[in-house]
Parts: sequence; C-alpha cells; structure tokens
Amino acid sequence: MQSRVSSFEETKDLATKAQSRVFQLNLLKILILFLVLGLGFSVLSMYMMRFSGVQNVVSTTRSSFQPCFEEPTGLDHWIMPPRNLMHTMTDKELFWRATLVPRMRKYPFKRVPKIAFMFLTKGPLPLSPLWERFLKGHEGLFSIYIHSLPSYRANFTSTSVFYQRQIPSEVSEWGQMSMCDAERRLLANALLDISNEWFVLLSETCIPLFNFSIIYKYLTRSRHSFMGAFDDPGQYGRGRYNESMAPEVNISQWRKGSQWFAISRWPAVYIVEDTKFYPKFKEFCKPHCYVDEHYFPTMLTSVAPRLLANRTLTWVDWSRGGAHPATFGRADITEEFLNRIIEGRTCLYNNRSSSVCYLFARKFAPSTLEPLLQYAQQVLGYG
Ligand SMILES: *[C@@H]1O[C@H](CO)[C@@H](O)[C@H](O)[C@H]1NC(C)=O
Ligand SMILES: *[C@@H]1O[C@H](CO)[C@@H](O)[C@H](O)[C@H]1NC(C)=O
Ligand SMILES: *[C@@H]1O[C@H](CO)[C@@H](O)[C@H](O)[C@H]1NC(C)=O
Ligand SMILES: *[C@@H]1O[C@H](CO)[C@@H](O)[C@H](O)[C@H]1NC(C)=O
Ligand SMILES: *[C@@H]1O[C@H](CO)[C@@H](O)[C@H](O)[C@H]1NC(C)=O
Ligand SMILES: *[C@@H]1O[C@H](CO)[C@@H](O)[C@H](O)[C@H]1NC(C)=O
Repeated sequence: MQSRVSSFEETKDLATKAQSRVFQLNLLKILILFLVLGLGFSVLSMYMMRFSGVQNVVSTTRSSFQPCFEEPTGLDHWIMPPRNLMHTMTDKELFWRATLVPRMRKYPFKRVPKIAFMFLTKGPLPLSPLWERFLKGHEGLFSIYIHSLPSYRANFTSTSVFYQRQIPSEVSEWGQMSMCDAERRLLANALLDISNEWFVLLSETCIPLFNFSIIYKYLTRSRHSFMGAFDDPGQYGRGRYNESMAPEVNISQWRKGSQWFAISRWPAVYIVEDTKFYPKFKEFCKPHCYVDEHYFPTMLTSVAPRLLANRTLTWVDWSRGGAHPATFGRADITEEFLNRIIEGRTCLYNNRSSSVCYLFARKFAPSTLEPLLQYAQQVLGYG
C-alpha cells in the first residue's frame, strides 16, 4: 500500500518534474525565438539605415530649416502686393499674370482702392520733392511705379515714397511701339497689386494741380476713364490710318489723343491683355503715324467706348505752336499762371458740368521746383 502510494506519489512527482522540464524547454525556445527575431530586426534595420541614411539626414534638415520661410496659408497670400518690384518675369509672363482677374464682384475683405502713379521717365525725377509733399500723410491710398532707362540707377533714400519703386524696364522711344510697351509694362506691374483701382500715367515734368483728397475723390467717384480720344478728320488724325489695319481696326473707330491717361482697372486689363489690335498697330502705325497717340484711344474706343470720358486730365500748352508743347521754366511760375491753368473751364464729369477739368499739368522744367514748392500750399492746396 505504502509503496503503491509512494509509487503513485513518485509517479506524480516524476510527472510534475517532466511537465516543468517541458515548460522550461518551451520557455527557452520562445526566448531563443525572440532573440533571433530581435537580432533579425536589428540587422534588417541597420541594413536599411545604410541605404536610406542619406535621405533621412536630408529630410531631417529640411524640416528643421522650415521656420526660415513660412508659406502664408490665409487669404493674405493672394491679396498682398509684391514686396519686391524687381521681379525676373519677361513681359509675356508678366502680362499673363497681370490679367488673372477675379470674377466675383464682391471682395471678401475690406479693399481700400489705391491710385497707382506711374512715372514714365528717362532717369531722374527732378520734381520728386513736390510729389513727396503732395503724397505726405496719404499712405495706403496710393502706390508708385517708375519706368526709366534700364541703365539708370535711382538713388532715393529709404524714407522716400520713390524708394525701390522702379520696375524692370527697357529702352523706349517717342512715337514708337516701344513707348506703348513701356506703358503696358507699367500697367501690368501696377495690376499685380489688387488694391490699385486707378492708373495714372505721368512724366517727370508733371505736377499735381490739387491736394490729394480732391484728386482721390475725383478719380474714385468717376464713372469714366480719362483717355483723350477724339475723331480728327484731318491729315494728322484719320490721315494716319492705314487700310491694311482692317478689319480689326476700323476707320470709324480711329481716334487720336494725348498719351497721358488716368484709367480704372478694367480698361487697364483691356490694354494689357490686347493681342488683337497690337500687331496691327505695330505693323501699320509706323513713324509718322505716332503710335502712342492712336493705339490706346482707338483700341479702347473699339472694346469699351462707354467707359471713356474721351478727355485727358493732364493739361499742356500747345499755344506756342510747333511740334512740341511748351516747357515752363522758373520765370513762368507765378500765382497768376497757376490759377490760369486751374480755373476758367467747364467740362463734363459724370455727365454733369464741372469746373475741375485738369488734375495734372506738364511740362515743368527742373528749375520750377523751388517756386512750385513756394506756391504749393497757397495755390495748389498741399504742403
Ligand atoms: C542722386 O544723384 C543725383 C545725380 O544723379 C544727385 O544730384 C543727387 O544729389 C543724388 N541724391 C542723393 C539723395 O544722393
Ligand atoms: C484739400 O483742398 C480742399 C479745397 O481747397 C480743402 O477743403 C481740403 O481741406 C483740403 N484737404 C486737405 C487734406 O488738405
Ligand atoms: C500701309 O502700310 C503698308 C505697309 O507698311 C504700306 O506699304 C502702305 O503704303 C501703307 N498705306 C498707306 C495709305 O499709308
Ligand atoms: C467699319 O466701318 C464701317 C463704316 O465706315 C461700318 O459700316 C462697319 O460696320 C464697321 N465695321 C465694324 C466691324 O465695326
Ligand atoms: C466717348 O466716346 C465714345 C465713342 O467714341 C462714346 O460711346 C462715349 O459715350 C463717349 N463718352 C462720353 C462720356 O461721352
Ligand atoms: C446725361 O445728361 C443728359 C442731360 O443733361 C441726359 O439727357 C442724358 O440721358 C444723360 N446721360 C446719362 C448716360 O446719364
């Protein structure tokens, strides 16, 4: 009995021992399996790192350099004017970009319309101190663009409104298509700022005849764009039309006008996007046609006649005769003279009679700067 019991006990013991040995053996197997797996993984990952190591370093540096340039993600990205006017776009690229136009009438932000003053010059702006005085205190309501000879280096100080307002320019000659090219280039650059609503073309001899508030209201409340455009039946008008320009350009739409305009955004887009009239004028309005007197007036009369006031806002004196208007010097500038330019006229403004017909005047020599600054406050109302 004892032995049976003991043998039973023994058997039970033996069985337990064998069980635990099997258990230990299994545990060892599992451990070895894990060890092999772990080793395998580490070898594999070391192997992979050898090959993808370079890429890993690059992507790490790229992400760690991110804060240097934050891509704007809001609406600002689309409505901020370019900070640097000296872009590297060709005219072809620039004109394409400038004619991207929003098709919704309502802006989803507060848009304050600005006036773009566009100076077409050879080089220096001798009357810039007068313009500085005129513009002072009206920041945010205007922008400046300057097209000069490509070789010219402007030296305005960083406090000037003219500082770094030069656009990429090319040589342009009076009476040639290159002159219209320069004007289109100015318009295209100014169109890149979505807040610019009025585009005023000026030369270095131009002066403003009223204070900024008056000029701003006159332009922004106008229903028409100010482009000189009249039908002159004589040899210097219709006489310059060449029948080869038909059918795109019709003699009945042939117009003549001063080069100096003040136009709103849509006519500016029409001028920059034009590919229909441009080749005709380029080919058939050669030297004695004076393309800068005909291209824009005729083209806009053809595509948007109802937007035009058909008059210019820039006064000039042709009374002395000859091929060029009078240039005024220091001795010409008196209170009487300036009042004679400003007063005594009537014209249509928004289909109503107005006594303010000119906002700008030319041609003023550099020597007029000093007397003009003297009269600026008293006669012209700024300063
Ligand atoms: C800029 O250069 C012109 C000559 O080109 C010089 O008369 C004028 O004083 C210079 N202005 C400044 C601010 O350096
Ligand atoms: C501009 O001129 C008008 C008329 O002369 C005057 O009423 C107005 O106060 C002037 N505005 C400024 C900002 O000087
Ligand atoms: C029109 O232009 C062509 C090509 O330039 C020229 O040969 C022709 O004489 C011109 N016609 C007139 C009437 O000017
Ligand atoms: C061109 O002008 C003539 C009259 O000179 C007119 O009959 C014709 O309809 C005009 N064509 C276009 C396309 O405007
Ligand atoms: C300007 O002239 C065009 C035709 O050339 C005409 O349709 C338009 O009404 C004129 N503008 C004004 C303000 O009279
Ligand atoms: C312009 O005014 C005249 C009369 O002053 C009027 O007959 C004409 O309809 C007006 N035109 C527009 C476009 O308002």
